[in-house]
Amino acid sequence: MDFELKTLGVEGAANERCDALLVLLDEGFKAGTDPLSKIAADAIKAKGFDTKPGKTLQAWRPPGVTAARVLLLGCGDGSPRRIHSAVHGAVASLRTAGIRRMAICLPPSSDDGRAVRAAVAAAAEASYVFVSTKSKPEPSEIEKVVIGCADAALARSDFQAARGAALGIELARELGNLPPNRATPTRLGEEAKRLAKTGGFQCEVLGPKEVARLGMGSFMAVAQGSEEPLRFIVLKYHGAAAGEAPVVLVGKGITFDSGGISIKPAPEMDEMKFDMGGAASVLGTFRALAELKPRINVVGLIPACENLPSGRAFKPGDVVTSLSGQTIEVLNTDAEGRLILCDALTYAERFKPRAVVDIATLTGACVIALGAVRSGLFSTDDELAEALSQAGELALDPCWRMPLDDEYGEGLKTNFADVANVAGRPAGAVTAAKFLQRFAGSYRWAHLDIAGTAWKGGAAKGSTGRPVGLLVQYLLSQEQAPRSVSRRGAKAEPAPRKRTRAGVRAQ
Ligand code: BES
Ligand code: MN
Ligand code: ZN
Repeated sequence: MDFELKTLGVEGAANERCDALLVLLDEGFKAGTDPLSKIAADAIKAKGFDTKPGKTLQAWRPPGVTAARVLLLGCGDGSPRRIHSAVHGAVASLRTAGIRRMAICLPPSSDDGRAVRAAVAAAAEASYVFVSTKSKPEPSEIEKVVIGCADAALARSDFQAARGAALGIELARELGNLPPNRATPTRLGEEAKRLAKTGGFQCEVLGPKEVARLGMGSFMAVAQGSEEPLRFIVLKYHGAAAGEAPVVLVGKGITFDSGGISIKPAPEMDEMKFDMGGAASVLGTFRALAELKPRINVVGLIPACENLPSGRAFKPGDVVTSLSGQTIEVLNTDAEGRLILCDALTYAERFKPRAVVDIATLTGACVIALGAVRSGLFSTDDELAEALSQAGELALDPCWRMPLDDEYGEGLKTNFADVANVAGRPAGAVTAAKFLQRFAGSYRWAHLDIAGTAWKGGAAKGSTGRPVGLLVQYLLSQEQAPRSVSRRGAKAEPAPRKRTRAGVRAQ
């Protein structure tokens, strides 16, 4: 599916050649004398339609309109969130309705860029269907979506960003949704190689021997119970001068998390195929980089393996030696994400990065804390935290900063190693982040816990592709950002948050 952006108002929309035309009308709607305005005004008068969010009216070949099918969509205050939900609902209902070309006419707004972003993201999200393991696939029939707004020139850069992100989100969803017998560590390595070839990236995929030679004892311990060989993926995107410090993205790539010897209960264990959501988001972000080509350098690191019980599996009580040299007592083999990430964080040091962001479906506790709305954000650096937060708001892929006070790390103490891999149940998302912080060496670091946001359960079960939107927007923001001096060591309390218009709306 591809997108096109043009300047188009409700008057011009009547002449738009397409199979379906979505006309979004907000509460400020003033009817003109054009055919679509007349229909809307007439229907509003007769209580057949309303500009309130969720209200819709369908018409077939209305007089004076070129499109066969017209949907009027109420979008209330016209905020990005309202536009997103109006477009999402309509596109989902039209996915397999024989529509190839669709046009979406946005209401005139003071912020076309954000409206366009919402429309692109919603249309892409709603038209996606996972078909690769269906014997009789019914893919989306929509080929082209024209987005019409008041001034296309003003919204162009937002449009490009949203379009690039949508391609990355789609790849992340596709990889996340693959069953765990297909999305093996080996397959993730192959996907990275394929991506590198088409996108012009450098890519190295290390196997068990190389990882052993490096000394990633913690990562290897998690992988040792499985027959599937581990992979350590290194992707490099060069958009700036070779000397420019890269942003490093580290993605948790557990392609199936049974819990290992500390085995999980059976209900919903299938959802642990999504435990490579961090890895998928790194690959998705690189897909977007291939499209958008920002002038920055980015490195992607993915430790990928399965976490399974077996006669060779690691077990509670084992002490492993990480790449950093720190020894770790494994008290729970189900806290495996941090054990593979810690070695990747140490490895990241060699790139002398300007920032490292790790992305992981790390803790059930984060799902309890923040649900499926916001990802958990942890950072020792206020500036980095703020940049990631703002990127999340703009991309409609929000996160929320959590604390990192040293007191939270107390429970990780043990008599038998430098650190234990779990603390008690309280503040589980924070103690996991405190564990990672010990391995985030001398660089600016942030951790995104996406356990609640990377996939949906229930009837709509499937990968969301989050936080690719946030990551792509953050990287684009770094293209303009001054190369600021690190502000590490800043007190762990969250910075006072400005309750911006966008922030309030996104809640
Ligand atoms: N992949 C899970 C985290 C998870 C659990 C994500 C449920 C989404 C839903 C992770 O590896 C895990 O098992 N974490 C444990 C940590 C605990 C043993 C300290 C958890 O959250 O229960
Ligand atoms: Mn686990
Ligand atoms: Zn896990």
